[in-house]
Amino acid sequence: MTLSDPFTLNWPGNALFGAGRVDDLGTLLAARGQMCALIVTDPGLREVGVLGRVTDALGKGAVAVDVYDRVNPNPTTANVAEARQMWEQGSYDALIALGGGSSIDTAKGAMAEILTGCDAFAALGNDVNTSDRPVPPFYAIPTTSGTGSECSLGCVLKSPERKFVIRGRLLQPTTVIMDPELTLSLPRGMTASTGFDAFCHAIGAFTNNQVNPVADELALASMRLALEHLPTAVEDGSNLEARAGVMMSSYLGGFCIGQKGVDGIHGLCTPVESIVTAVHGQVLGTLLPHVLRYNFETLADRYALIATRLGLKGDPLDAIFDAAVGLATLTDCPERLGAFGLSTDDIPRLTEMALLSQATQRNGRPMPASDVSELYEAMI
Ligand SMILES: [Fe+2]
Repeated sequence: MTLSDPFTLNWPGNALFGAGRVDDLGTLLAARGQMCALIVTDPGLREVGVLGRVTDALGKGAVAVDVYDRVNPNPTTANVAEARQMWEQGSYDALIALGGGSSIDTAKGAMAEILTGCDAFAALGNDVNTSDRPVPPFYAIPTTSGTGSECSLGCVLKSPERKFVIRGRLLQPTTVIMDPELTLSLPRGMTASTGFDAFCHAIGAFTNNQVNPVADELALASMRLALEHLPTAVEDGSNLEARAGVMMSSYLGGFCIGQKGVDGIHGLCTPVESIVTAVHGQVLGTLLPHVLRYNFETLADRYALIATRLGLKGDPLDAIFDAAVGLATLTDCPERLGAFGLSTDDIPRLTEMALLSQATQRNGRPMPASDVSELYEAMI
């Protein structure tokens, strides 16, 4: 890979960073002539007062608002259909996703349905890059830091059959409000698992088989921010500077997914989450050391480069391995996938699903079926 290899950058839209930025939301929408908004969120954010802060902010601009607040932690196609129906029954001129990846992904799924006219599962395989329908202004206000959904082109949804991903440039939020104050109340476990997800996006994008040297620079920045700030944010959730650092790591990780996709760590993770209900960051934590060791066999230079560029001390491969596993440990992930309720009987199904995943196909070291099965075997 050289700097003269061809690549394409798709820059995301506006991102407004900083403590208190969410309070400007109403004046921002009103200035754009958007006077009626639908918020997609989960019930927990109403209870902790975050939804109230956002609706107060919209009130400052006299923006009318309705709320769909039934998003599940693992958002389903039913959530998407409900949100889309609510959108179609109103006359809204802005769609606002408020919450973690689940709320943002539900809103993205609703956008896919609004723009394609088919249900989210059927939209799978459609690249939602163009539409002859009006494209609603799409805002994302993340309240967790890690999924990168606020900046990426894809969303992960669960149908009755399996987890699946829909992608498209029109699913990328056009305006993102990155206010670290909204993450101050995030509990320790959620902080660790979501922040570690951001790190996995960045290391996956940096080492996969896609070419995008600009995204690679931002992946390094994302990893640096996660390594520097995630342990502090986990230890002391009230540290606004650490919260802001992890939030930027997440945003940049999402940017990198949007440009390059991820790697086998995510490729082997999604099938696990299709079969059992588990915390995404914890499954990634269990998978990461195995996939790293597997990739080190043919991509040692690429991983060593991360350690060198981030100034990690000692042998570069050991240093990046220890740094990555150190972040994984923060999630309290189990050592084996069996702890999530999987058994060796699940390996054929896991392998089949993993091979369908773009993330697996983009892993820096090609992953044939036999290797994927062996990895699962070693991890269960
Ligand atoms: Fe992820």
